[in-house]
Amino acid sequence: MAKKIHKETDIVFHIRRYNPELDSKPLWKKYTVHVEPGMTVLDGLHQIRETQDASLSLRYSCRMGVCGSCGMLLNGRPSLACNTQILDITTKVLTVASLPNFDIIKDLVPDLTPLFEKHISTSPHIVRNDADEMLNPTGEFYQTPEELTRYLQFTYCIKCGLCMSACPTLATDPEYIGSQALPQAYRYNVDTRDDGFNLRKKIVGSTHGVFRCHYAGECSNVCPKGVDPARAIQLMKRELVLDYLKLKKHRAKSHICSKPEGVERIPEIPEAPPFTVEQK
Ligand code: SF4
Ligand code: FES
Repeated sequence: MAKKIHKETDIVFHIRRYNPELDSKPLWKKYTVHVEPGMTVLDGLHQIRETQDASLSLRYSCRMGVCGSCGMLLNGRPSLACNTQILDITTKVLTVASLPNFDIIKDLVPDLTPLFEKHISTSPHIVRNDADEMLNPTGEFYQTPEELTRYLQFTYCIKCGLCMSACPTLATDPEYIGSQALPQAYRYNVDTRDDGFNLRKKIVGSTHGVFRCHYAGECSNVCPKGVDPARAIQLMKRELVLDYLKLKKHRAKSHICSKPEGVERIPEIPEAPPFTVEQK
């Protein structure tokens, strides 16, 4: 397919402004920006701040899609402002608002505190039973390429919160642990160096854990780093069900497929779900 050629043009930025300390409700303001090919939304917002309205608040740092600071709602889609070319998404009007499902600190700056609190609650680090080895390591714990593949994509998360802002479950249950933290729990659960499954399952299997997910899949669609949070959550549901039925332990012990104690019926072990988004 031929590459689309963009031309410079004027674009109207329609920006949702809100200062919770002063305003009773958000207000939409319009700014016209002369856009040239190659300009990102972050460039356009800087131009507004420098030439039209220095009171506009936004958050950014790296300008290269790495720090996760500049997430915002662009024409209705959670996106990174530094990673989005204006002319790729509009040639006329661009609506810009703070990320849904988060409180607003000011204008385009969401309060990501719940993201970090939920992230920490799932113990997103290697947990080991052998405390001696942790304190006095005797060697390295190697990973095979196959072992690495099980969790590699989840390590690419930059904690931008786009997945959480796209999540319909979080929109109705603010306590839902959500699509950033739950995949990080999965990332460590499947790491062969980790012993933290039982610690994490109290959180991820709780009322606001993985079973609240309805598998809308929007988290995976909007993730700018190619992470597939929806898949990790479905895989963790599977892990928890298998753990509950103690099938893993029973099979490892007996190598036969008879019923474990206390289990009426052995269900078919579900296949792992397919990828939610195309893998690059
Ligand atoms: S999973 Fe993707 S969208 Fe969600 S916080 Fe991590 S990088 Fe952002
Ligand atoms: S400024 Fe760092 S991701 Fe956009």
